[in-house]
Amino acid sequence: MNAPPIQIAPSLLSVDFGRLADGLRTVEAGGADLHHVDVMDGHFVPNLSIGPPVVKAIAREAKLPLDCHLMVTDPLTYGERFAKMGAWCVTFHIEVVDDPAAMCAALREMGVRAGVAINPPTPVERLEPALEHADMILVMSVNPGFGGQSFIPEVLSKVEDLRGRYGFAGDIEMDGGIALPTIGACAAAGANVLVAGSAVYGADDPGARVGELRRLAQEARG
Ligand code: DX5
Ligand code: ZN
Repeated sequence: MNAPPIQIAPSLLSVDFGRLADGLRTVEAGGADLHHVDVMDGHFVPNLSIGPPVVKAIAREAKLPLDCHLMVTDPLTYGERFAKMGAWCVTFHIEVVDDPAAMCAALREMGVRAGVAINPPTPVERLEPALEHADMILVMSVNPGFGGQSFIPEVLSKVEDLRGRYGFAGDIEMDGGIALPTIGACAAAGANVLVAGSAVYGADDPGARVGELRRLAQEARG
């Protein structure tokens, strides 16, 4: 398969926020590729999480790029704020944007990569107007809003469609319920950027867990 390299992106939603900087360093030492930053606005999803002041602090401490996942109804306004704070990629949800091509272009003008996320109930066809413009597609494998939920295997066919039917050659990220038993199926389907929150930060040794997840993903890809 011609997918880009495997990248492991621990989600900070599951870090001990009282020891945030220690968490960053632990997964960095374990070989993580990105820090996944989940931003929730209490409207698009029924939860609130990390906002601008915390992302600013993370950007100051982090040695890895910040992969900002905006679960918000107004990604243009907030995307710009996170871009200015040093985000590397800003991902918005297709469910709240009428013109994804224009949104991707706006993000690139801000100097960040453009990611487009899709929730489990949304059909893959909704992504069609975005595919030529997105650097990354994020296929959600849980309904967003909370860490620690169970992986929804039915979404794997979206990844297969993106790589197969649509020939999408950019990054495909999966997010939600990714752990030792599920990461192999994600990589085998064609996903290459793999987010894990509770599976990494809930492990006794989060750094070692990053390595275990990477090995399983690489083995599954063959
Ligand atoms: C869910 C978030 C995820 C979440 C994943 O709304 O977008 O990034 O942190 O957590 P786990 O890996 O625990 O399912
Ligand atoms: Zn996320």
